[in-house]
Amino acid sequence: MANDAGAVFDVVILGGGSGGYACALRAAELGMRVVLVEKGKLGGTCLHNGCIPTKALLHAGEVADQTRESEQFGVKSTFDGIDIAAVHAYKDGVISRLFKGLTGLIASRKITVVEGAGKLVSPTAVEVNGQRYEGRHVVLATGSVPKSLPGLEIDGNRVINSDHALVLDRVPQSAVVLGGGVIGVEFASAWKSFGVDVTIVEALPHLVALEDEASSKLLERAFRRRGIKFELGARFSGVEYTDAGVRVSLENGKRIEAELLLVAVGRGPVSAGLGYEEVGVAMDRGYVLVDEYCATNVPTISAVGDLIPTLQLAHVGFGEGILVAERIAGLNPVPIDYAGVPRVTYCDPEVASVGLTEAQAVERYGSDKLASISYSLGGNGKSQILKTTGQVKVVSVKDGPVVGIHMVGARMGELTSEAQLIYNWEALPAEVAQLIHPHPTQSEALGEAHLALAGKPLHVHD
Ligand code: NAI
Repeated sequence: MANDAGAVFDVVILGGGSGGYACALRAAELGMRVVLVEKGKLGGTCLHNGCIPTKALLHAGEVADQTRESEQFGVKSTFDGIDIAAVHAYKDGVISRLFKGLTGLIASRKITVVEGAGKLVSPTAVEVNGQRYEGRHVVLATGSVPKSLPGLEIDGNRVINSDHALVLDRVPQSAVVLGGGVIGVEFASAWKSFGVDVTIVEALPHLVALEDEASSKLLERAFRRRGIKFELGARFSGVEYTDAGVRVSLENGKRIEAELLLVAVGRGPVSAGLGYEEVGVAMDRGYVLVDEYCATNVPTISAVGDLIPTLQLAHVGFGEGILVAERIAGLNPVPIDYAGVPRVTYCDPEVASVGLTEAQAVERYGSDKLASISYSLGGNGKSQILKTTGQVKVVSVKDGPVVGIHMVGARMGELTSEAQLIYNWEALPAEVAQLIHPHPTQSEALGEAHLALAGKPLHVHD
């Protein structure tokens, strides 16, 4: 707890999630005096209510599926069910170890942490618990919370959001998931693995509709095979309570009964009542507006993370936080190319991508200027060993660089590390084709797709 209110800091950061704490760490590393204000726990949504806990649930689901399916690998086991309290204990153990590491790291960089709800009170000051913290710069990093729809009340019991789903003390018999975006499909996937009868309701024509259409279709096929039901192009019209749970109505007249409804229709910025408008920060529908350097219209104020209208991803928050720290330290950081940020949806199978979808590439370059190849994981030894299916799709400019990589299959998220180098370094397919990929790994599928695009396919049937 800080006792140096009244001192002038180099930077006052409001919000200790991925964006805020990354900014604090980098600023401190650059020799700045930093104060970090947090009303909850350092680490924010990602560590406590987002990325980390959901991935732990998904991993527990994967273990459950592997136990059920172990005979396929010649291993005898019996699946006795999910002990949800033990799943939560495992998940909370992961969070608490990471939390301890993070608080230690923050302390070791001599960052002043102030616990409490802060409010912006001037272009250079934040007030917390009646004390004022002045800085040459202020960084707003107050994040986001789950949204709902007008008139749809989240009661936390039968109609829940992702915050509630992460601490649910039971495995429901059945669930309707409203929204087939990232959160919707990740929970649907984990719950199905836990034995829940799941139906996703999505207004757009596809699940994970922001991804390349080929990836969405492969995910839909895989979910169908797993017995995850979904209604596409279906808008929600209402929910009523029943004796057993809820009855969800769709605009197309369908009704779906389930034990509970998970609302996953997006996350909205946390900015109301925090003094931003009063101090003159330009905003749009609750988001703080920034330029490519994450600077707001007020020269001393920057903003990062889910609070600004860029991709709502923890790693984007890290990148933006670092960018701001370096800019205010007088370095000359390069703006973020948001298309070059890897995106991973950790459902089973995983959906991973970087760069432009084929539709976006067609819009930008014209279809006659593009080449595209889809390499099936059916030809990849390691994927066969894992018994996963899917594909690696690569889109390139003809005689030019790779502009998009789209992957579906188990563990594909790990391949984004190579895919992002290919995209961001504007590699030509022929250059990637020259690189020898280790055998047998799933990364060979990336290599094979580039070999094929370079006109020298190896394990590809004519
Ligand atoms: P989202 O925007 O990804 O998906 C919400 C979905 O709900 C959309 O597909 C939308 O069409 C649908 N929807 C909205 N209103 C509807 C209605 N009335 N009826 C039927 N469908 C309707 O938002 P989501 O999944 O809540 O995630 C929020 C943010 O968190 C995203 O930006 C996401 O990137 C981020 N996130 C990222 C993760 C990752 O990187 N693995 C994991 C979880 C969240």
